[in-house]
Amino acid sequence: MTPLLQVTDLTKHFPVRSRGLQRASGAIKAVDGVSFSVEAGQTLGLVGESGCGKSTTGRLLMRLLEPTSGSIKLDGREIAELKRSELQEYRRRVQMVFQNPSSSLNPRQSVGSAIAAPLLAQGITPPGGVKARVRDLMDRVGLRPDHYNRFPHEFSGGQKQRVGIARALALDPQLIICDEPVSALDVSVQAQVINLLEDIQRDTGVAYLFIAHDLSVVQHFADRIAVMYLGKIMEYGDTDGVFGAPEHPYTRALLSAVPQPDPAADRSGRIRLKGDLPSPADPPRGCVFQSRCPVQPGLDPERRQRCTESVPSGDVACHHVDIAAEALAATLR
Ligand SMILES: Nc1ncnc2c1ncn2[C@@H]1O[C@H](COP(=O)(O)OP(=O)(O)OP(=O)(O)O)[C@@H](O)[C@H]1O
Ligand SMILES: [Mg+2]
Repeated sequence: MTPLLQVTDLTKHFPVRSRGLQRASGAIKAVDGVSFSVEAGQTLGLVGESGCGKSTTGRLLMRLLEPTSGSIKLDGREIAELKRSELQEYRRRVQMVFQNPSSSLNPRQSVGSAIAAPLLAQGITPPGGVKARVRDLMDRVGLRPDHYNRFPHEFSGGQKQRVGIARALALDPQLIICDEPVSALDVSVQAQVINLLEDIQRDTGVAYLFIAHDLSVVQHFADRIAVMYLGKIMEYGDTDGVFGAPEHPYTRALLSAVPQPDPAADRSGRIRLKGDLPSPADPPRGCVFQSRCPVQPGLDPERRQRCTESVPSGDVACHHVDIAAEALAATLR
């Protein structure tokens, strides 16, 4: 079956211009050959550290940025080939919820008008009228009818994010790109917003690409996980598999840092990554994770050379999954 969204070898390189030079002198490889799919009604969690290219991926999918290369297909249709009218339809079907609900809402626009805006922009009058539809949406996300004429500054962060979700739902999308929608919220409010997103998915069958830097946020929520590092996917698979039996050393390191509910839990298994994230303008050749990989220094020369030459294609971008667990255990001893 064709997935709802199919992304293949997607790349976005931002040109770097040195002072005085007209032509680009290099490129920031923000997204560098990323492939994944999202099934209808399901959630893909896209996780990774700050700067690894998550938002750029989201913006490419929203067509807010042009890809350098690669393919994005919605229901099997290549979106780069869509005609103007089809592009408008695409913009209806794919919506976005942003990280910072304060900056994504216009302070001078009432909440009712903000939620109505996508309908008006697309020239859509729902049965019963725009106002009735906005009131339904407000009810769906847990806002009261008297909130209609209020302004964003009168709302808490969680309420503002509810407005953002109502606005994203206004056009009945098939896919919502949620770019760290709960990162700016208090922990207690995070759970409420995630529960709301789950309820909405159950009711409407909408799919999510849920971007997070914290694995624990997506653990109970996503059907599949893609772990991103320096513009590339390190590991990709079912959530249960990725959490239950992670294979890539980077995934293992991220998981070892997920907070344990029990404060007395044994923390000795925490894998600490050394060094800084390399610059995406000058990533290591071969495996981009090699400079921080806790496994790589202990490898025999022949295996180490493989890291510098290439990465295996497939769901786990590491040559050494066969020995990674043992090698990591040795670094922790
Ligand atoms: N318009 C741009 N021009 C040049 N470089 C950019 C641009 N947008 C993003 N970048 C760079 O691309 C890389 C990836 O950025 P991106 O915002 O996608 O990361 P992210 O994973 O969303 O990070 P965060 O968790 O901090 O939101 C970063 O190095 C960033 O500085
Ligand atoms: Mg981001």
